Amino acid sequence: MGKKIILSGIQSTGKLTLGNYLGAINNWVHMQEEYDCYYMIANLHTLTVRNDPEELRNNTLKILATYIAAGLDPEKNTLFIQSQVKEHAELGWILDCYTYMGELSRMTQFKDKAAKHADNINAGLFTYPALMAADILLYQADLVPVGEDQRQHLEITRDLAERFNKLYGKTFVVPEAYVRKESARIMGLQDPESKMSKSATNPNDVIFIEDEPEVIMKKFKKAVTDSENRIKFDPEKKPGVSNLMQIYSAITDKNMQEIEAEFEGKGYGDFKVAVANSVIDNLKPVQEKYKEILQNKDYLKEIYTKGAESARKLASKTLEDVKNKIGIL
Ligand code: TRP
Repeated sequence: MGKKIILSGIQSTGKLTLGNYLGAINNWVHMQEEYDCYYMIANLHTLTVRNDPEELRNNTLKILATYIAAGLDPEKNTLFIQSQVKEHAELGWILDCYTYMGELSRMTQFKDKAAKHADNINAGLFTYPALMAADILLYQADLVPVGEDQRQHLEITRDLAERFNKLYGKTFVVPEAYVRKESARIMGLQDPESKMSKSATNPNDVIFIEDEPEVIMKKFKKAVTDSENRIKFDPEKKPGVSNLMQIYSAITDKNMQEIEAEFEGKGYGDFKVAVANSVIDNLKPVQEKYKEILQNKDYLKEIYTKGAESARKLASKTLEDVKNKIGIL
């Protein structure tokens, strides 16, 4: 049997965060040997909110550069841009016609985003999950590494695959969510009850992968904790400290007991500096490589062109099969 197929992606809105790095990309790096991996930049999904065109173009390349700088080897993984494999838009439309309004209206991400962008509740925002299903099903992906917030979208993808298979015979692999046990869920530094988000209103809430060392240090020093002054893992009662421990653990590979022992008798001041330094040191080589790659536009173009070609091989086969089955010439 061949390797299992993995597909995942990140939208090209804004700058990537420490959450994207530790919660997603860093995990992907660990999977590149064992699986046949497809990682895309979901720039079509990004259109569901308004973007400045130049910024969207740049962000797309920045994410690709981050993928490579963080250690995703373009020789081992298929790295591509969603819009460059036209099969996504095409299967997306087809799947729209097999997705019910009712199931789409239950999506919490739609409800959240509709509340946040009340002046632009467009049809794309509503049918977003059908395009995401297309992204996944085109590659017959077995596993989809996603965060908790995407689980519902994965469920609808599975429902769509099963619905289609039932109507037309086996066409799609029914994918599974893949949440690595060790994978970190990084929360905001100012609001440790919600996921660290690129669109946070308080800039101190989020560490960007591109942040300079001084900025990282400053943000960690300002991180919200509690008044106990004791380093102990307890996400319920001590969300701020526990989040800092998660970050430290993801970077150093130490478990919570080890971290508690390491900082026994020490205060939050020392702890925050240690966490900040671990992040700064870990990001340094990634940032250096990132800057270098981003300047080399020809190299990036070569990677995404090759990636799209390789992605299309699999995607076009699936789409042909779908079109044949439903009677589209
Ligand atoms: N919706 C995902 C997010 O916002 C991004 C995404 C688009 C994705 N297509 C995907 C993730 C396919 C996994 C698989 O995080």
